[in-house]
Amino acid sequence: MMDITLKVNGEEHALNVPVSRTLLDALRDDLKLTGSKNACNQGACGACTVLLDGTPVNACLVLAVGAIGRDIVTIEGLGESGTLSPVQQAFVDTGAIQCGFCMSGMIVSATAILAENPKPTRDEIRSALSGNLCRCSGYVRVINAVILASERQGA
Ligand code: FES
Ligand code: FES
Repeated sequence: MMDITLKVNGEEHALNVPVSRTLLDALRDDLKLTGSKNACNQGACGACTVLLDGTPVNACLVLAVGAIGRDIVTIEGLGESGTLSPVQQAFVDTGAIQCGFCMSGMIVSATAILAENPKPTRDEIRSALSGNLCRCSGYVRVINAVILASERQGA
C-alpha cells in the first residue's frame, strides 16, 4: 500500500492504495466519483475517459500512482456550481444521450477536442472520438452535439 495524493477536479485527495490500483478504480471506488464508467477495463471502449493535464486518457490504463502531481478532471468536474457544462448541455439538446453508458467518456473527449480546436470539422470530430465506442447512437447525434457546442461558443 502507498499513501498518495491525487488532485481531482481541483481538489486534493489523500488516498492509501495498492501500487497496482488503476486511476479508474481510485476514482470510482475510493473517491466515489462513479461518472467515469468501467465497460471493458482494457483500454478498448473509452467509457472511462478522464482528462490528465488536459489530455483525454483511458483511466483504466493509468495507475493511480502515475497520476500523482497531475491535474485530473472527470465528468463530475466539467460543469460549475451544479450546472451542466456547455458540452454536456449540447449533448442533451441534440438527443445524443441514449442509454448513457458511454456518454461521460464521450463528453470528456469532446470537451478536449473543443479546447484544442474550437471549430472542428465533422471528420475531425469523428477522428478525435474514434476511441469512444457507443452501441446506441450511431454517432450522428454525437457529432451534431459537438458541432452545436462549437457554434454556441462562437466558433
Ligand atoms: S473501461 Fe477503460 S477503455 Fe473501456
Ligand atoms: S448512448 Fe448507449 S452506449 Fe452510447
